[in-house]
Amino acid sequence: MPAPDLVTAELTLTGRLTTASNATFLGGIGDAAVVYKPIAGEQPLWDFPDGCLAHREVAAYLVSEALGWNIVPRTWLRDGPFGEGMVQLWQETDPEQAAVDLVAADDVPDTGWKQVLEGQDERGRIVALIHEDTPALRRMAVFDVLVNNADRKGDHVLPMPGGHRYGVDHGLTFHGEHKLRTVLWGWIGEELSAEELDGIDRLAGALQGKLGDQLAELLTGEELAALAARCTRLRRTGRFPGPTGGMPAVPWPLF
Ligand SMILES: Nc1ncnc2c1ncn2[C@@H]1O[C@H](COP(=O)(O)OP(=O)(O)OP(=O)(O)O)[C@@H](O)[C@H]1O
Ligand SMILES: [Mg+2]
Repeated sequence: MPAPDLVTAELTLTGRLTTASNATFLGGIGDAAVVYKPIAGEQPLWDFPDGCLAHREVAAYLVSEALGWNIVPRTWLRDGPFGEGMVQLWQETDPEQAAVDLVAADDVPDTGWKQVLEGQDERGRIVALIHEDTPALRRMAVFDVLVNNADRKGDHVLPMPGGHRYGVDHGLTFHGEHKLRTVLWGWIGEELSAEELDGIDRLAGALQGKLGDQLAELLTGEELAALAARCTRLRRTGRFPGPTGGMPAVPWPLF
């Protein structure tokens, strides 16, 4: 749980993220810089009719904590200038780094990166969508499978100075039906590591206890059952899944 002052101390707005399709603000609580997404500013979505984005963002944070991988920055619900919403600690990224990138097809590095797809840009050049091949990003891909993330764009991976990677924007998660849309497809069919399997076990165990009760306040019963089923399935196959179903496998735009 956040320290009490992050819940009750005044939240002041300092700006608005102009790219955002929903109302997304930058703010401050004392010294802490935060993102604030009021529930009242959410656009209704035909494909996610249940619940609200803010609750799913908090649910994603709780799952990240149960996995023990610190993927989602601290996220919680609180009141703000536009009413109840989700608040998340702002992270200062390293502008020199990119975990996901679009490069000319000839420039794909030989090692350390995975290529997801190739296509033509608006000027007809062949470009490749690539992402890093690192334990931190693999864990994020496992997290996305578990929370059924329908919106892992390149810009939703924050490259941090020391090599850590945070994931943000988890409003389109936990649907009862398969919705995985991501740019992190570089490990299809590869075996999960012992560390990754341990994380899934921790999550599955936590769902039987307090985490299950917390998530029941944020998600529907169907969504909660689907989360447990994804844990079981991924543990059983022990491998990164590939795209399935008729939905596009990558989000659009990619970044
Ligand atoms: N906690 C954070 N720390 C640092 N940067 C963040 C954080 N949350 C979001 N951002 C940055 O702000 C951008 C927009 O935030 P986010 O994607 O969560 O908002 P959104 O309302 O869903 O926007 P969009 O509709 O454009 O996806 C992110 O792509 C990311 O670059
Ligand atoms: Mg976004």
